[in-house]
Amino acid sequence: MEACYLELAIQAAREAGRIQKARFGDSNRVELKGEINPVTEVDRLCERTISEMILGTFPDHDLLTEETPFKGKGSKWRWIIDPLDGTTNYIHRFPFFAVSIGMEVDGVMELGVAYDPVRDELFQAARGTGAFLNGQRIHVSGTEGLGQSLLCTGFPYDVRENIDYYLSYFRQFMVKGFAVRRPGSAVLDLCHLAAGHFDGFWEFKLHPWDVAAGSLIATEAGGRVTGITGQPFSIYSKDILASNGLIHPQMIEAIQEIK
Ligand code: IPD
Ligand code: CA
Ligand code: CA
Repeated sequence: MEACYLELAIQAAREAGRIQKARFGDSNRVELKGEINPVTEVDRLCERTISEMILGTFPDHDLLTEETPFKGKGSKWRWIIDPLDGTTNYIHRFPFFAVSIGMEVDGVMELGVAYDPVRDELFQAARGTGAFLNGQRIHVSGTEGLGQSLLCTGFPYDVRENIDYYLSYFRQFMVKGFAVRRPGSAVLDLCHLAAGHFDGFWEFKLHPWDVAAGSLIATEAGGRVTGITGQPFSIYSKDILASNGLIHPQMIEAIQEIK
């Protein structure tokens, strides 16, 4: 994979992060895409900025982004972009959100970059070369027991319609794990798993832009990423189970016990 792609992803993520930090706490215009699914003018501005940076350099590449309908050109290079992951946090001035940029070549995830502008933390990975946080190699945790594990999750925007289903998973992992967190940014959840801060993560109904970069970063840090029942993972498959690898079978077993 050419280093120029990774460099461009990093530059674009930093630029979008700069915008997010500069406008954090301002009264940015908010629209609702669904009952509890917000988008702000900052999401859109960051998306435009990243898209222009990428297409300015590689005009024939495809972009799959959260806020613009996909218009593929049939390119073998596909950038997968969440311009602001954690919009609800952002609106409420809870400082936990990030920019997420991944790239597939011929359908294979090749690079992932996530930037947390509040902490100035840049996570990056290129397939087969490990994962890094601000230039330092990162690894998943060595926690061996689910009972000692700090887990995290998120809830999709249809949580109100399917609350019992989502809570059945939450309840099971509250009982089986050491503790569960719901931080509010899927890409940062996966990056903090990659850095060994969380031991396991699960979520439903995610989109490719939520998981493209983070799933590669977690895998390159030595983690295991599958579908919720252990099936092979695809960024297009919506549900995800990610862990340090050691507790993966225990997480699957716990899921199988859910009525
Ligand atoms: C959301 C965040 C959140 C997750 C939601 C996502 P957004 O992304 O990643 O943690 O629980 O499912 O949709 O809308 O802030 O980009
Ligand atoms: Ca997202
Ligand atoms: Ca988003």
